[in-house]
Amino acid sequence: MARAGRQQTEALTPRSARGESVRVIAQRYARERGPLLEILHAVQAEHGHIADEDVAEIADVLNLSVAEVHGTVSFYHDFRRSPAADHEVQICRAEACQAVGAADLWAATEQHFAHREDVEVREVFCFGNCALGPSASIDGRLRGHVTIDDIATAESGWSR
Ligand code: FES
Repeated sequence: MARAGRQQTEALTPRSARGESVRVIAQRYARERGPLLEILHAVQAEHGHIADEDVAEIADVLNLSVAEVHGTVSFYHDFRRSPAADHEVQICRAEACQAVGAADLWAATEQHFAHREDVEVREVFCFGNCALGPSASIDGRLRGHVTIDDIATAESGWSR
């Protein structure tokens, strides 16, 4: 019954361009086995992040609840819920890196960028670069044996 109500509302409310795009992406994968992750990756690749309206659109196409889709988006750290900052620093917090100072690197990095809204510091759980820990990715470039000085040096190359 609720679904019929939603369809009735949709008939009266035109979809946004983004909503239409997300619906097309979701429909492209909908018949595949376990399509949700494929759809979420495709939506993020197309739109940069997964917005609340995207979650509702995907849920409708897959006939899932919004909570189910939201739960999947929240579970995987790779999915963004908001637009990306200008710069992204990812610090590995998994075991091998933790054993060689990742916790201190994480704390120092968070403190270093606390005043910059254009930089996002995120935790990641293993880049597969374990032998070179602590590992970090700075604007998508993976580095090993990273120190806070390395991160500050990379920052100095960014134009503000
Ligand atoms: S544990 Fe850090 S890269 Fe694998």
